[in-house]
Amino acid sequence: MSKPSVIAIDGPAAAGKTTLGHALAQELDYLYFDTGVMYRAVTLAALEESVDLVAEERVAALARRIVIDVTEPTEADGRLATVCIDGRDVTHDLRSPTVDANVSRVAAYPGVREAMTHQQRRIAERGQLVMVGRDIGTVVLPDADLKLFLVADVETRARRRHQEYSQQGRSDSYDDILESMQQRDRRDREREVAPLRAAPDAIRIDTSAQSTEEVLRLALRLIEKINGA
Ligand code: CDP
Repeated sequence: MSKPSVIAIDGPAAAGKTTLGHALAQELDYLYFDTGVMYRAVTLAALEESVDLVAEERVAALARRIVIDVTEPTEADGRLATVCIDGRDVTHDLRSPTVDANVSRVAAYPGVREAMTHQQRRIAERGQLVMVGRDIGTVVLPDADLKLFLVADVETRARRRHQEYSQQGRSDSYDDILESMQQRDRRDREREVAPLRAAPDAIRIDTSAQSTEEVLRLALRLIEKINGA
């Protein structure tokens, strides 16, 4: 096999998927695509339009109707992509505590997943990309050339997210972040459609005690192995 054309990275919240995915995409000169922002965008749109989040069909209809664009960053404010809903830049609103608290409920709806999965597969058709999410290796791109499943203990993940938010000037407490993350992980793992789990052929990497550089080096070694195979 030559250089992997499609790399899937899955795992629970704040396991290091974004950091690794983005760094790998830069190393390989590939497109980096974070599918989480799409579920966040649907959730934000539903909240903004006061759609009752337990009304599954209404949320699914909204997911089919809105146009979510994920493009190269249009502002140099540290964002890795610009996300627009119907042409309006919503990048900064996607990580609010309210979106965090509701996104896994929205992402559990089969109609929402169907609409997002369809778009994600189309984006991946061009190849040369690193796609990041929860079900990329299992459902969206089961034929991906390389599948990584990142894990880390939940306290480490909550600490990382807390640090990230503090650096952005946010005041969310560690305890709130931990609780919200645990609830989201539970919902993501327990949902019926495309639950969070490693594909049988995914390589599991525990990032709890490894630096960003170590994880990147490990992933690059795995890619070299594929190249040499
Ligand atoms: O950045 P973080 O790991 O906290 O979350 P995210 O990747 O932005 O994903 C937010 C939420 O979207 C997850 O908790 C899942 O409920 C949902 N999601 C999903 O169901 N499937 C994906 N492929 C990506 C995200």
